[in-house]
Amino acid sequence: MNIIKAENYKEMSQLAAKYLIKQVNEKPNSVLGLATGSTPEGLYKEIIHHYTEGDVSFKEVATFNLDEYVGLSKDNDQSYYYYMHNLLFDHIDIKDEQANLPNGNTENLQEACKQYESSIQEAGGIDIQILGIGLNGHIGFNEPGTSFASQTHIVELDESTRKANARFFDSIDDVPAQAITMGIDSIMQSRQIILLVSGSQKAEALEKLVNGPITEKFPASILQKHANVTIIADHDAAAKLSV
Ligand code: GLP
Repeated sequence: MNIIKAENYKEMSQLAAKYLIKQVNEKPNSVLGLATGSTPEGLYKEIIHHYTEGDVSFKEVATFNLDEYVGLSKDNDQSYYYYMHNLLFDHIDIKDEQANLPNGNTENLQEACKQYESSIQEAGGIDIQILGIGLNGHIGFNEPGTSFASQTHIVELDESTRKANARFFDSIDDVPAQAITMGIDSIMQSRQIILLVSGSQKAEALEKLVNGPITEKFPASILQKHANVTIIADHDAAAKLSV
């Protein structure tokens, strides 16, 4: 694993943006895997900045987000659909039909999972996947105990994850109990992975990811087995790493 220590959140975001922009400039029809949460917000700001400056175009790019809550409509401001449009897609030249998220607001969730997985394959697979990490080691919404062989599937969210994400909702009761997420295997099939980690509260999780045993009890540990992972951690998140 390639570990890059950034001074702070801004530098972490700038470095991640450089990777993505280089990828898109070298391969204009790149397939990007995107993430939500607080961590990548700065990355999306940097991308919009570079797009506005004319450094990059997303006209031919396709994106696939990691996950989406079940039961929230697209215009619900807590849906990941809303988040992505608000923080990125509405500000760049990506084609609407090329910006994909799992559909968590449908009668047939199983079918939505299958379709999502095949859309990723049809697009040629993911060139670069952006990842964050949850305090319990979740990636996407793959909670501890998820099979490493999993593909896009429906998950019951951990109480700890619902609590952590309650800050975005009016109350914890409003946080959906389920989500659709790309599976661990779907994530591992990406040709390159960039994991962003920021803040002292993530330091322990990052240390476990890098040095801990590879176990389904800590989903992010599987990344030790991926051939092309770059971790960009800010100063506080990297505090427990000895490298
Ligand atoms: C969320 C998302 C993950 C994200 C993680 C960390 O629940 N589903 O994709 O990486 O938890 O979020 P944050 O960046 O806000 O700490």
